[in-house]
Amino acid sequence: MKFVLTKILSATSYATAKTRDALDTALRVQNFARGILQFKARPSDIFVVTYPRSGTTWVQYILYLLTTDGSMEFEHITQVCPWFERSLALGLQTVDDLESYSNPRIFKSHLPYAWTPKGARYIYVVRNSMDVAVSYYNLYRSHLGFSGDFTEFLERFMKGQVQYRSWQEHVTGWEAHKHDNSVLWLTFKELKQNMNACLDSIATFLNLQIDADKLAQVQKHCSFESMKLHEDKFDHITSLLIEKGLKSGQFLRKGKIGEGDKFFTEEQKQRFRNSLQQTKFSGPSLLHLDLFLR
Ligand code: A3P
Repeated sequence: MKFVLTKILSATSYATAKTRDALDTALRVQNFARGILQFKARPSDIFVVTYPRSGTTWVQYILYLLTTDGSMEFEHITQVCPWFERSLALGLQTVDDLESYSNPRIFKSHLPYAWTPKGARYIYVVRNSMDVAVSYYNLYRSHLGFSGDFTEFLERFMKGQVQYRSWQEHVTGWEAHKHDNSVLWLTFKELKQNMNACLDSIATFLNLQIDADKLAQVQKHCSFESMKLHEDKFDHITSLLIEKGLKSGQFLRKGKIGEGDKFFTEEQKQRFRNSLQQTKFSGPSLLHLDLFLR
């Protein structure tokens, strides 16, 4: 009997998890497909497209700095430059929400060329594949719960068995459009070695008149050191927390005595005291075991 129940338990757990995953995937694909059908790209839209870990956030921020007054009054960069396919797929933003952004709208995307909405302008950033692999491995460990070593990750990366599939396929797909008028092709290396020239190319591509002061300001703010100082605003973890309604920086909150007395209303204090005096607890019950295991 115990053996059979254990088997049933493990089979149903597996089936439940699989069903949940399948439903979740179907919902994302459906949301995305519906969104893509409804979405109308504007000629002024700018898509920063990359294979992950190639400098997406960097260029997102550069574009934000070039096209706005550079205010840092956002919690996360995706609030001002949405991640196109993810926003739609997860239902974080509807096409109507995206409609409300003023021109030029800046979108981040990791979509292959074939699936990217047409009719906009695209900045594709490519990075050395080995550097991408190392950076992606570290992200897999820090953000995606991967516990294997680099050898294991590299095997997966080479076979395209990672999120966003094959690096080579992604880059090759976009490379075929490298010389299209609507595409600006940038490399991570150029950004690193000659930011001035990159800013010039971006400004020319987007038809932006940028004076020397603004260029110097953008260059200063988009340095690695400056972005690191505001890492929360760029880290994907922040957007995951926001999506779940959570906030970081609240764990070591104030460390003071007497906060309860200030925070409770008089009525709450009274009810609280009464409940402490009146409620009798009978000790832990196995019925509540799951509450201790979260
Ligand atoms: P490393 O993991 O090698 O540090 P993406 O935004 O596409 O996920 O890319 C992330 C990579 O770009 C990370 O690489 C990150 O450090 C790097 N990056 C982001 N902003 C940068 C900046 N201002 N200067 C140099 N590298 C930057």
